[in-house]
Amino acid sequence: MGKLFIYYTHTGNGKLIAQEMEKKGYDIREVKPKRDLPKSFFWGVFLGGMFAMFHKKFKLKDYDASLDGYDEVVVGSPVWFDTISCPISTVLSKTDFDGKKLSFILYSGSGNATKATEVINSLYKDCKITVLKEPLKYSEELSKI
Ligand SMILES: Cc1cc2nc3c(=O)[nH]c(=O)nc-3n(C[C@H](O)[C@H](O)[C@H](O)COP(=O)(O)O)c2cc1C
Repeated sequence: MGKLFIYYTHTGNGKLIAQEMEKKGYDIREVKPKRDLPKSFFWGVFLGGMFAMFHKKFKLKDYDASLDGYDEVVVGSPVWFDTISCPISTVLSKTDFDGKKLSFILYSGSGNATKATEVINSLYKDCKITVLKEPLKYSEELSKI
């Protein structure tokens, strides 16, 4: 049985984590929204923060929710407005993780993810959550995964 890393990235930290997960033998599934955040830092953080605050789920491009052949799944999300990013909220609503060993890797500017951790704990029981502080800036954070 295989291992899968499903993730979203807006500014590249998630991509670095995906490369590390690939080295550890995970298949990689990157999630792309139909309409991504603006590339401008200000508008990206402002709009993404607003969308996350209102628990908006982004529509995804060709999302494959099938987990056939995988017994372990790790979900990677940047932290937006202290919670899970909108594309990954969609993933959680569309994917049945029943019977899979599920864990999360969250990445944030502060290294904290209080609300995201609460949300995950309320949705899934006994789920390991690892929080990294922007590994593009702090590469030593990758040793936590
Ligand atoms: C819309 C938006 C909201 C963010 N909100 C937070 C936040 O509430 N707390 C935090 O520590 N970092 C926050 N950040 C920073 C990101 O979580 C951090 O840079 C993360 O590593 C980005 O991952 P990525 O490069 O894979 O997209 C935010 C970034 C964006 C774009």
